[in-house]
Amino acid sequence: MLSKLILLLCLASKVWSLCPTKCTCYMDRKGRYSVLCKEGGMVGALNLNNVSLDTEVIKITAPDDNTNELTMSPVFQSYKHLEEIHVTKSNIPQLGMHFFWGLGKLDVLNLTQNNITQPLDHNFRGLSKLKELYLDDNRIISLPSGTFRYLHELKVLSIQRNRIEELTPRIFLEISKLKVLKLSGNNLRELHPEVFRDVQELRHLECRGCSLSRLNNEIYHLLPHLAYLDLGDNHISNLPPEELKDLTRLKHLKLDGNRIVVIPDSTFVHQTVLRRLSLARNHLEKFYPKAFESVNNLTELDLGYNKLDKLGFLVPVADTLEVLVLSGNRMRVHGLKELSSLENLKELRLADCGLVDIRIDIFPKGLSVLDLAKNHLVYLPSELLPIGLTELDLSSNLFRGLDEDLLLLLDNVQVLKLENNSWSCDLCHIVPLLDRVNRSAVFRDIICAGPYTVRNKKLEFIQKNELTWCTASSYTTSDANFFLIGEDGKVGIIAASTSVALLVLTVLAIVGALCYSRRHAARYYTHEDKLAVEGESIFENNHSPLFCDGELSFKFPLEGAAEKKVSIATIDEIKKEHAITNGT
Ligand SMILES: *[C@@H]1O[C@H](CO)[C@@H](O)[C@H](O)[C@H]1NC(C)=O
Ligand SMILES: *[C@@H]1O[C@H](CO)[C@@H](O)[C@H](O)[C@H]1NC(C)=O
Ligand SMILES: *[C@@H]1O[C@H](CO)[C@@H](O)[C@H](O)[C@H]1NC(C)=O
Ligand SMILES: *[C@@H]1O[C@H](CO)[C@@H](O)[C@H](O)[C@H]1NC(C)=O
Ligand SMILES: *[C@@H]1O[C@H](CO)[C@@H](O)[C@H](O)[C@H]1NC(C)=O
Ligand SMILES: *[C@@H]1O[C@H](CO)[C@@H](O)[C@H](O)[C@H]1NC(C)=O
Repeated sequence: MLSKLILLLCLASKVWSLCPTKCTCYMDRKGRYSVLCKEGGMVGALNLNNVSLDTEVIKITAPDDNTNELTMSPVFQSYKHLEEIHVTKSNIPQLGMHFFWGLGKLDVLNLTQNNITQPLDHNFRGLSKLKELYLDDNRIISLPSGTFRYLHELKVLSIQRNRIEELTPRIFLEISKLKVLKLSGNNLRELHPEVFRDVQELRHLECRGCSLSRLNNEIYHLLPHLAYLDLGDNHISNLPPEELKDLTRLKHLKLDGNRIVVIPDSTFVHQTVLRRLSLARNHLEKFYPKAFESVNNLTELDLGYNKLDKLGFLVPVADTLEVLVLSGNRMRVHGLKELSSLENLKELRLADCGLVDIRIDIFPKGLSVLDLAKNHLVYLPSELLPIGLTELDLSSNLFRGLDEDLLLLLDNVQVLKLENNSWSCDLCHIVPLLDRVNRSAVFRDIICAGPYTVRNKKLEFIQKNELTWCTASSYTTSDANFFLIGEDGKVGIIAASTSVALLVLTVLAIVGALCYSRRHAARYYTHEDKLAVEGESIFENNHSPLFCDGELSFKFPLEGAAEKKVSIATIDEIKKEHAITNGT
């Protein structure tokens, strides 16, 4: 026991005794001797003074505000145990000839975020066991044929965000075991099929942001094992049905951020094992009903930020779909009816869909994650919500309060987002939320949007006894408090119950009083007939200043109004007449 401890201390002290100042030396999770220098500010030729010869992992990097200015030197050759070398954020301009010679155990070479312009084959000579090579974020302009030809065991090659405009023929010569190739962020415009002849074992290909304008079936024909294909953020506008026919093992396809408008029938008919598909941020207007024919295993579908308004095309995947993103489409609630048939759906994202009011049963019963952020919702009926929800996002809507029934249901929700609503901190709206203020920060952090006295105050600093009676602010402010115009021009009615009821009662009372006083005052009018006609014409127009644009109108039963020459006008009219009556 003691001897073990001593041995361990010796080992530790050995690591400690030989360690460059400004670096840390430690045992990594796999039990390898590791040196990490991350303070930055290193200048000149790379040196490994005080780095122990049995070091297995070297990491040299720098913070963004203090990058290194290093040049490569042949220092690694005596470190025969090295398994990983990371020299990043160090402005290395080029790699020397045979500098990695003899590193027969090296698995990972990470040279991202340097200033390398043209790697050559002899740079990598001797790395016969290298499995992963990362050259991301350099300034590589071109790669000659056979650049990687000494890397026979290479499985992962990543050259993202460089300045390569063309892949030279035979560039992947002799790295036939390559499984993962990442070329994203190079302005390639086109991928030539010939290039892929050397890497037919490829499982994973990424060329995101490569300015590609089309898919190319000849390439996929050469890559029958491809399981992951990411061609997001390109300029692809067409997805012809036979295009993907050779990719029969595709599990994950990302075509988000392209310009695809329609998905024809049978587009994915050969992708029987496809599990995840992203077509977000395209110009999708239409899916043909059989677009997903034969797609038997689709579990995740991202259609966010398109122009879809119907969902009938989901029928073929209704049994398997678990995650569905429809955020950012201009959906009408009745266009969402198909959703309720997605029996296995666990996660549904409907953020930013312009939803005004949800009153029909659209949510599948098994849902656990629901995102309704950035809509125009003022009310959510608790009976429509699935009972097993664990995550609910209602942020950036127009809720003024949430009722007790809904909140009881939400007590089981683990992640609840409520920020940025029109919270009205008065007795009508906020009491059920205020009662929960000690339960979690979600409620404490609610910020009141009104009434004026508590505007911008956090709910946690509000006492029940300072809440105002709800209608007070409604009377004084404009019609916006009663009616909110949705983006699609529809009028949503809020605070339907109490405040409107009170208003109606008040109006009725005024009207009643007025009718009574008019009948008695009528004989004092000099132009009684004319006045009555005016009043009627206002009524005929259904035009009422209270409800601005005439979307809604108030009608009262007017039995025998004509004979009695009593007409009901708007409140303004009534007030004016009232003033006249009182004034005379
Ligand atoms: C190497 O270690 C010695 C003492 O252990 C120290 O004086 C010296 O500054 C170190 N050199 C570097 C480059 O870290
Ligand atoms: C390569 O280095 C960069 C920058 O230090 C780091 O972010 C990245 O995770 C490294 N890659 C691997 C595979 O370790
Ligand atoms: C990268 O190298 C070029 C010359 O190849 C040089 O002009 C540029 O300043 C270098 N960039 C940095 C950040 O050192
Ligand atoms: C795909 O679905 C079929 C039937 O729906 C099933 O038999 C098969 O196991 C699934 N394959 C995968 C990879 O999940
Ligand atoms: C808050 O919600 C409004 C719409 O209700 C939206 O325009 C705004 O961007 C949101 N603000 C934040 C910070 O999310
Ligand atoms: C929340 O906690 C504070 C301090 O413990 C207490 O004064 C307040 O009454 C509590 N509020 C509610 C609604 O329970």
